[in-house]
Amino acid sequence: MNSKHQYVELNDGHFIPRLGFGTYKPQEVPNSKTIEATKIAIEAGFRHIDCAYAYQVEEEVGLAIRSKIADGTVKREDIFYTSKLWSTFHRPELVQSCLEKSLKKLNFDYVDLYLIHSPMELKPGEELFPKDENGKTIYDHVDLCAVWEAMEKCKDAGLAKSIGVSNFNHRQLEMILNKPGLKYKPVCNQVECHVYHNQRKLLDFCKSKDIVLVAYGALGTQRYKECVDQNSPVLLDDPVLCALAKKRKRSPALIALRYQLQRGVVVLAQSLKENEIKENIQVFDFELTEEDMKVLDGLNRNFCYVAMQFMSDHPNYPFADEY
Ligand SMILES: NC(=O)c1ccc[n+]([C@@H]2O[C@H](COP(=O)([O-])OP(=O)(O)OC[C@H]3O[C@@H](n4cnc5c(N)ncnc54)[C@H](OP(=O)(O)O)[C@@H]3O)[C@@H](O)[C@H]2O)c1
Repeated sequence: MNSKHQYVELNDGHFIPRLGFGTYKPQEVPNSKTIEATKIAIEAGFRHIDCAYAYQVEEEVGLAIRSKIADGTVKREDIFYTSKLWSTFHRPELVQSCLEKSLKKLNFDYVDLYLIHSPMELKPGEELFPKDENGKTIYDHVDLCAVWEAMEKCKDAGLAKSIGVSNFNHRQLEMILNKPGLKYKPVCNQVECHVYHNQRKLLDFCKSKDIVLVAYGALGTQRYKECVDQNSPVLLDDPVLCALAKKRKRSPALIALRYQLQRGVVVLAQSLKENEIKENIQVFDFELTEEDMKVLDGLNRNFCYVAMQFMSDHPNYPFADEY
C-alpha cells in the first residue's frame, strides 16, 4: 500500500483510500480535460477515483487509468474505482446492464465499488432525466430493497468488489439493513458533506452500523449552474475557514478536506487544475487540533448545495428527513 494513502476497512473486508478524486464535470467542459486531470491525479498519488455512469466520462477515466497502468505507474489492483447505478436502471432486470455498460466504457473487468447513485428512480430509457411534455421529470416506482438485491447479484457475479449507496437518508439505509434475507450490507453512503452541512447525525448513524460515510462537495461543490443556487455562500471563502487556514499555513481547501479525514469520513476532491490536484494530496501531511475541529464543527448550518429541489415530490426524495 502506498504510504501516502491511508485506507479505511469496509464492512466486507475490502479497503477504501480515505481520499478520492472526483470526476464529475459540467457538460460544456471538454471530456479530454478529464483524461488529463485523471492522469495528473494518479501521478500525484490519488488511488481512489470516483465516477458514475451518469457523469458520461467513464470512457475518458478508463483511458487515463489504463494509460497509467500501461506506463507502469500503477497496477489495476492499486486503483480503487467507484461507479454508480443511474436512476433509470433501478428495475432489477436492468441493474447489471448499467454496470456492464460502465465496464465496457472503462474496459475493466470489475469496479471496486458500485453505488446506487440516488434512491429516486426514474423512468427507464435513453434520457438521463426523462421529461414529459411539460418538462416535468418522469419518475418510476421500484422497491429499493429489490434494487439492492440486484446490486448483491452484481457483487456475486464478480463485477463489483463492494456495493453501497449514495444520497440515502438514515431511514432508507435502515430499510436496506432490515431487509429480510439481506446478503450484504451497504459498505458506504456517499452524500454531500462539508463544513456547512457536516452530516453529524447521519455520520453517527453510519458509524453505528459500520457503514463508511463518503463526502462529496467537501470543497463546496462545483456550484453546478443546473442545480446549485448561484447566490449560495462560497464555502472556500468562509472567513472562519480562511482564518484557520492562515493560522495553520494551509489553504482553505486543505483544511476543509482534513476536517473530514479526522472525523472518520472518506473524502472526495474534484479539480481539473494541476496545482489544485497536487495540493489536495497534501491533506495527509498535517493535522488539525481538537480546538480547530470544534471551530469547524461550529460552521455547520445544515446547508445543502445540491438539494435536488426539482425532485422534491419524488416518493423517495431523501432530503426531506432531518438526516
Ligand atoms: N453521489 C453524488 O450524487 C455526487 C454528487 C456530486 C458530486 N459527487 C462526486 O463528488 C466529487 C466532488 O464533488 P464536486 O465535484 O461537487 O466538487 P468539490 O470536490 O466540492 O470541489 C469543488 C471545487 O473546488 C475547487 N477546488 C478543488 N481543489 C481546490 C484547491 N486545492 N484550492 C482551491 N479550490 C479547489 C475546484 O474548483 P476550481 O477548479 O474552479 O478552482 C472544484 O471544482 C464529484 O466530482 C463526484 O465525483 C457525487
